[in-house]
Parts: sequence; C-alpha cells; structure tokens
Amino acid sequence: MRGAQGFRVTLPIFLALIVGWLVSGGIAPTAGQGGRVAPPSPTCTAGTRATPAQTEGPYYKSGSPQRTALTEPKSAAPKLIVTGYVLSRSDCRPVSRAWLDFWQADERGNYDNVGYRMRGFQFTDNAGIYYLETVLPGLYPGRTRHIHVKVRAPNGPTLTTQLYFPGEQRNQTDGIFNSALLTTVRDGAGGKVATFTFIVDLR
Ligand SMILES: [Fe+2]
Repeated sequence: MRGAQGFRVTLPIFLALIVGWLVSGGIAPTAGQGGRVAPPSPTCTAGTRATPAQTEGPYYKSGSPQRTALTEPKSAAPKLIVTGYVLSRSDCRPVSRAWLDFWQADERGNYDNVGYRMRGFQFTDNAGIYYLETVLPGLYPGRTRHIHVKVRAPNGPTLTTQLYFPGEQRNQTDGIFNSALLTTVRDGAGGKVATFTFIVDLR
C-alpha cells in the first residue's frame, strides 16, 4: 500500500516537472518543414524597440544570388544554421516575404569581393521565418565574429545590421559590437544553431 500511495504522490510531481521543463524551453529543437530546425517562439511586446542598425562595412555587394544555403559541398568548415523570425515592431506580427540579404567572411575570415561566395538573399516564409545554412564566419583583424545582413519588410525601410555570437572574447573589444544583436546559440545536428528575432518597422 505504501508503494501505491507513493506512486500517487510522486506521479503529479513528476508530470509537473516535465511540464515545467517543456515550458522553460528545455525541449530539444523540433524539426520543421523539410527537416529544418524550427526556431523557438519569439518573445515580443508591441511597440518594442526595433532591431538596432549597424554600419554596412566595406564589403557589401548587391546582386547576390537567392539561396538559403551558403555552404559548399567539400568544405570542412564548422556548420552553422541561423534562423528566427522577422516581426513587425508595431504589433509583433510575423512578416512574411521579408527580404534578407546575408553576407559574411568565410571560415578563414575572408570576404569574396570578386564573386558571391558567402552571400545570398532569401525571403521569410508565411510564418515570418528565415533560415540560413552557412558556416561559422572566421575572424579578421579588428572585428569580433559577425554576420552582416540587410532586412526589409515588403515596402518597408531597409535595416542594415550585424549578428554576433555569445562567448566570443573579441566581443569585449570590438567597438561596433552591440549586445542587443547577440544570437542565441545551441548545438544542433551537425553544427551550431543560432537564433535571432528581427523587429522591424513597416512603412
Ligand atoms: Fe564584416
């Protein structure tokens, strides 16, 4: 009898612990459509501050190809997925068909200023989600690790900014670094998964 009573007492506690773990975000990332990693639901308060703009830097090139994967088949560079939502600042609604143009250094810290390696644009899906398969950008003199991006809601103004990674030593010394642009990074299948929510103004 004591065992049965103990079970009756501990089962609700066990269930409560499971529910608490799930609510706190402890669940492993789920695979979305096409086996993609689904980003966690974003937190957003209507009227919140827009994602801060940053300098474009010297290496932006217009005319990049439309693609969600910048990875190269024979590359052994550490894989990175960057994903998340584009939300409107006024009401936190997902922005579908938002344009995002990414460019970054390769794993050795070099930009391709001749062709379009490590450059590509895409649009958010109907849920306002973007998804980039790339490699961890290498370091180059004077900067911490970062990825450049331009984001524009349909008919909205263009936001030019950069994304950063937590735990980077150079975040402390890079004069351009802004902690509001830190991604959240976790380990995923085959590499790192960085998530970031862009909050943009609509016109
Ligand atoms: Fe850069």
